[in-house]
Amino acid sequence: MFLERCSAVSLLVLGFASEIIFCAQGSDTIMDKFPQDFSFGVGSAAFPTEGAWDTDGKGASIWDEFAKNSSNIQGGGDAKKSGDGYHKYRDDVQLLKELGVSHYKLSFSWPRIMPKGTIADGLNNAGISYYSDLIDLLVANGISPLVTLYHWDLPQALQLKGGWSNRTSVTWFRNYADFCFGRFGNKVKMWTTIEDPFSVAYKGYESGEHAPGLRTPGEVYNVGHNLLLAHAEAYRVYRDTYKTAQKGQVGISLSSDWFVAKSGTVASTLADIRALTFRLGWFADPIFKGDYPETMKQLVTSKRISQGIPNQTLPTFSVAEKAMIKGSVDFLGINHFKTQLVAPNIDTSSAGPGFYADQNLVLETDTSYPKLEFRPETNPNSDRRLMGFGLRKLLQYVTATYNKPVIYVTQNGLDSCGTLEDQNRVDYIRDYTNSVLQGECAALYGFNELMLG
Ligand SMILES: *[C@@H]1O[C@H](CO)[C@@H](O)[C@H](O)[C@H]1NC(C)=O
Ligand SMILES: *[C@@H]1O[C@H](CO)[C@@H](O)[C@H](O)[C@H]1NC(C)=O
Ligand SMILES: *[C@@H]1O[C@H](CO)[C@@H](O)[C@H](O)[C@H]1NC(C)=O
Repeated sequence: MFLERCSAVSLLVLGFASEIIFCAQGSDTIMDKFPQDFSFGVGSAAFPTEGAWDTDGKGASIWDEFAKNSSNIQGGGDAKKSGDGYHKYRDDVQLLKELGVSHYKLSFSWPRIMPKGTIADGLNNAGISYYSDLIDLLVANGISPLVTLYHWDLPQALQLKGGWSNRTSVTWFRNYADFCFGRFGNKVKMWTTIEDPFSVAYKGYESGEHAPGLRTPGEVYNVGHNLLLAHAEAYRVYRDTYKTAQKGQVGISLSSDWFVAKSGTVASTLADIRALTFRLGWFADPIFKGDYPETMKQLVTSKRISQGIPNQTLPTFSVAEKAMIKGSVDFLGINHFKTQLVAPNIDTSSAGPGFYADQNLVLETDTSYPKLEFRPETNPNSDRRLMGFGLRKLLQYVTATYNKPVIYVTQNGLDSCGTLEDQNRVDYIRDYTNSVLQGECAALYGFNELMLG
């Protein structure tokens, strides 16, 4: 993981696909405009933006702790100061205004509000005032805030109790969300609960590349399970307690690559479907259909039996939990960055559990597409390609598979800190934006609202 040295300002689009418009199919430039009520915004997250990591009573987060070990961060560094948004938020709002965006996606740092993670262990009034002032200023400037409650920075005090591995994390998050809705919901009308639960579970608890840096592969589905329950509890709190008065919307942001079968064989096509099922269906199926995908349950079970650990399958939801999770979004946030090729492969190298080993496939980059420099100074081996069609395909897939949910694209873009001349970024944004415009043209796909962040 690389800590941002400048807060990444990326493109974000929000609007309504209410009109049928001219289609730029096959073209590589934007041939037409988004509908008038389509809006553009930008997004950030607390940890790489705010700095002030221990100022005015803020508690430590798992990322503060993780960054103390310089070998966890490419090139070293930490986020003690980062973009200094805690002190410079007035300048930031001014910049947003000059940019002309109508929406700003930000996240709350949980330990800035609750230094030890729970109300019982104390609230931090200075942190609460900070978010209150920032939100007031945004609204006063005609910019609607979209607030993410959890963008990966769990209070370290809760990590010491097991973090998201601990089933009590569902209650911790529910209570934190309840407090935030009550305190800020008069001005914040768009909320996402948990940002990219795939990364929280896989990168935090299996690959260890993100905080808390654990390498406990058997734990990944348990963490995902708790994240889903925590999300759904927060959604229900809002709906039952606040929605009538506050009239806002609550969703979740899921990240997914798009996957393309490497060959036209049945085996390759099935591997392609598995990749999407594990990456997106793992979270989207419970939310829209009430349970994990059947293929995922069967595959993990048969893997564990052959590994001699039949007790470590996917966790199961009770009937009441299924009912609580199903339909627990007013909109679906989609984070998308890249497309990968998929080929079938039985992984025999790994005796134990493993998120990718479970899927019986290999992922590859399609090198026939133009290569993009992605922070070349720290990422010489990165291989991002210009494959904007993947975003369109993903949105079309979500629309068809999950019965036309309202979709916001909550993350998309290419970081390119350090140079002003970043043609690759221009190319990326043009390609992906154009792809969305093309997708939107196909009115049958009917995603209602859309945002690139
Ligand atoms: C720092 O992180 C590296 C890589 O994860 C690990 O091997 C090392 O033990 C850690 N050092 C400390 C002091 O925790
Ligand atoms: C999980 O959290 C509860 C509540 O804070 C705590 O009592 C328990 O010890 C935690 N479990 C672990 C394994 O840390
Ligand atoms: C699962 O089974 C393995 C092997 O029998 C055992 O070592 C482990 O403790 C069990 N785990 C749980 C959570 O029951």
